[in-house]
Amino acid sequence: MRIVFVASECVPYSKTGGLADVVGALPEALAALGHEVAVIVPRYRMTKPGAPLPGAENLTIPLSSGYQFASLTRGGVVKSVPHYLVECPALFDRDGLYQTKDGKDYPDNAIRFAAFSLSAIEGIKRLGTPPDIVHCHDWQTSLVPVYLNTLYAVDPFFHRTSTVITVHNLGYPGLFPADVLTKISLDGSLFRVDRLEFFGKVNYLKGGMVYSDFITTVSRKYAEEIQTTEFGYGLDGVLRSRSDRLQGILNGVDYEAWNPATDSLIPARYSADDLKGKQVCKKALLEKLGAVAPLMDRPVIGIVSRFATQKGFDLIEHVAEDLMRRDMYVAALGTGEPKYEELFHKLAGLYPDKFLVRVAYDNTLAHQIEAGSDMFLMPSRYEPCGLNQIYSLKYGTVPVVRATGGLDDTIQEFDGANGTGFKFSEYSAEALLGALDRALEAYRKPTSWARLQRNGMSQDFSWTVSAHAYVQAYRQAAASRARIQAAP
Ligand code: ADP
Ligand code: GLC
Repeated sequence: MRIVFVASECVPYSKTGGLADVVGALPEALAALGHEVAVIVPRYRMTKPGAPLPGAENLTIPLSSGYQFASLTRGGVVKSVPHYLVECPALFDRDGLYQTKDGKDYPDNAIRFAAFSLSAIEGIKRLGTPPDIVHCHDWQTSLVPVYLNTLYAVDPFFHRTSTVITVHNLGYPGLFPADVLTKISLDGSLFRVDRLEFFGKVNYLKGGMVYSDFITTVSRKYAEEIQTTEFGYGLDGVLRSRSDRLQGILNGVDYEAWNPATDSLIPARYSADDLKGKQVCKKALLEKLGAVAPLMDRPVIGIVSRFATQKGFDLIEHVAEDLMRRDMYVAALGTGEPKYEELFHKLAGLYPDKFLVRVAYDNTLAHQIEAGSDMFLMPSRYEPCGLNQIYSLKYGTVPVVRATGGLDDTIQEFDGANGTGFKFSEYSAEALLGALDRALEAYRKPTSWARLQRNGMSQDFSWTVSAHAYVQAYRQAAASRARIQAAP
């Protein structure tokens, strides 16, 4: 099959979260199964310029709010997967991907990602061969299936092309005022409850889910959760109505980037057979984060996260005092909403010898926290998949997680012999403390702790299994498209 990924972020060009890791790794796994895969992403300020691509220099994007001029350039080729960059400096040459430095959404995000979606479609045409599948991700590229079924519905180039959308996070739907349709070349007739209308606004992600031939999300449990009112963000009805074409496919991880046996970003390498290097990583981490006279027998609880309401850190606020009475360090790295940045700064100030914090985006430190911590905390309110707990397993760092979405699917409670971590279900500070106390107690029994670490390190979440599942999803998308086209 010929598959084109269209996404707003991708390692190594740009990243704000796990979406970039997935779009960076899944195409390679599909290519390894014999498929022809290409990736199209925007070129942001943080992305190195691409090489010219003859014939794709002048993409004129007909937005009703005015023309945008873009071009497609060649990024790198990673394991036979070519990457293409949409260059449109007026829209993408900015400090952040979606937000200003002080955390405000760019006011023209609706236009930016409509223009990107149209540029990707025009770019695909310039590449010459019609794809079997265009695979889109989250609200930023949700308009691709909408455009292909409206503006491009009679374009013979896309006659045999089906679309798949992956929902990485339903909490970010791309909601814009009703009049946006008139600015992005979409007909006002799409402002209907069974199209893009959503409580008086335009919802890009809804459009993607309505117009795609198949919908996936990033874990089995999250696929179930988003069909309920509790997790559905008002879109549960749409998802239920399409449940025959909705599937949860667990994210894999890229073990070339996240493996303590080969990781060049950590001070010492180690494996399940020889964990000595992990102690070196722990000491170096504590020193790097400023712990005075680090206590090596005190466990380190790692956190690496976007600071967003989704991630559940308000629970920590409620139990900070209680938490800090325990004999442990917290090593936290994150950026995001100011109120959480302030909370972590405040806790670092109150407990300087235990609560070690960096408010930053720092990939090297993210690896060092995975390697140097004993446990890893993810108390998420909801978590579509979550990648850090899977990285933690590989690094012998025991996950303590809330049993939601992908966290529930990937971690099993340790019973003294089997299991890989500790889980709590109720979204409460007490439940979090309960799970953490079970972890701290287990930590004091070195033999069973070593077993728990090895249980995690032997898990295999590489992409191959999930890549096969995506191929099945693509086949279902193609079959469903064929049925629509054959219908009278
Ligand atoms: P989400 O996509 O919701 O943010 P995931 O667990 O799927 O959550 O993925 C988060 C990814 O972003 C991981 O690769 C993690 O290491 C990385 N990450 C998050 N915050 C930071 C940060 N402050 N510095 C470096 N990497 C970060
Ligand atoms: C989202 C989710 C996260 C998931 C990631 C990659 O940002 O919040 O749980 O792992 O996408 O699919």
